[in-house]
Amino acid sequence: MIKNIKGTKDLFPEMTYNLQDIETHLNTFMNIHGYGEIRTPIFELTELFSRSVGEHTDIVNKEMYTWKDQNGQSLTLRPEMTASVVRAYIQKQLWKTEPISKFYYIGPSFRRERPQKGRLRQFHQFGIEALGSSNYEQDAEVISMAHNLYKMFGIKNLNLKINSLGSNNIRTKYSNDLKESLLPFKSNFNESELIRLNKNPLRLLDSKSEKIKKIINKNCPNIYDYISDEDSKHFNELMNILDYMNIPYTHDQKLVRGLDYYTRTVFELTSENLGAQDALCGGGRYDNLIQQLGGAKIPAIGFAAGMERLILAMNLNESEIIETDIYIINIDETFIPQSMQLADKIRKDLGTSVYIDSLRRSMKSQMRHANKMNTKFCIIFDSEEFKNNKIIIKNMTKNKQELIPISNIISYFESE
Ligand code: HAM
Repeated sequence: MIKNIKGTKDLFPEMTYNLQDIETHLNTFMNIHGYGEIRTPIFELTELFSRSVGEHTDIVNKEMYTWKDQNGQSLTLRPEMTASVVRAYIQKQLWKTEPISKFYYIGPSFRRERPQKGRLRQFHQFGIEALGSSNYEQDAEVISMAHNLYKMFGIKNLNLKINSLGSNNIRTKYSNDLKESLLPFKSNFNESELIRLNKNPLRLLDSKSEKIKKIINKNCPNIYDYISDEDSKHFNELMNILDYMNIPYTHDQKLVRGLDYYTRTVFELTSENLGAQDALCGGGRYDNLIQQLGGAKIPAIGFAAGMERLILAMNLNESEIIETDIYIINIDETFIPQSMQLADKIRKDLGTSVYIDSLRRSMKSQMRHANKMNTKFCIIFDSEEFKNNKIIIKNMTKNKQELIPISNIISYFESE
């Protein structure tokens, strides 16, 4: 038997109903904030991710699904969406016509991580990217949207951490100092940690190893202490707005993110209800990325969130069975065309849901099924009555039955 790939999931209607509902709320939420949906391809040139997310990140180093196309080009299933949005933005040279572009997205991303609760190899991200403004109010908008969105979905025990990584010119100095402070402990590092220490020590700051975390906490400088006055002013103004907006947060001076493109503000939202994979969403500024990938010098900020983690935090059960407004019951083969035609007419004229049995089950089992579907009305084709152009309508909630002329069906339901 062929099975699905480890770390991927099949979603059946019991779950996709929930998802559709969440997506409808998301679409409205984004639109009322002035963000429009962008859809980009799920695969891109590998180079896009190595040049943006960063060569020495876990994502690029070991988690990407990459293959050579027939023409020898290296392609990759997107491990995240920011790089693709930026690529599309540059390709369209949008800054020439729009001083600011605000996008949101919902879609699958792929990372070859070790699957566990809340961590998949094909997962779904939704997120936003605002390209064009370097002002702190833009940071506040993005962070407050992330926070309010989880509130809207009823998530409690939210924990928002924010920090500033400063502008890129402090990175080199901080990286060097960080490396210096870690060198005395290098005997504790495994092979890949040693490579990071040499090539990109910043990436060690989000190490999941408890041993490394301890060493860092005790012995390393905070990046926040390196940021310039201007960066610190930006960050203070941001905190001031968050205070005004009543968005609770903690300033975590050690927070860095697992992707290389960030500058200045970074943030992460976690929930205590989630367990080990507690990151609901994360984001930050990436003021150099657009230029770095060949566009103009345009500042930007965004966040992305895991849909599966939102669902876990919401504690959603599989939804009820499919429901229908009207169930057409027919046990006479000769009336199949008429019953199909009637179903079609009601759907078209009234826009209500009509279910029709295609198993030719008995009257009793069709009635049982109609009950299971929480049907409001059953239309019953009774051979004798139908010959007189009449049909039985059973109001399932009132448990009341009526005989009506078939030509009156639409007006009957219109008045109900
Ligand atoms: P990220 O922190 O790598 O950031 O991912 C964002 C969110 O995606 C995580 O907080 C988590 O909820 C979810 N996620 C990541 N990996 C998995 C996985 N294997 N299984 C399930 N969920 C997962 C980014 O991707 C950046 N592009 C965020 C961003 C947007 N920064 C600026 N703009």
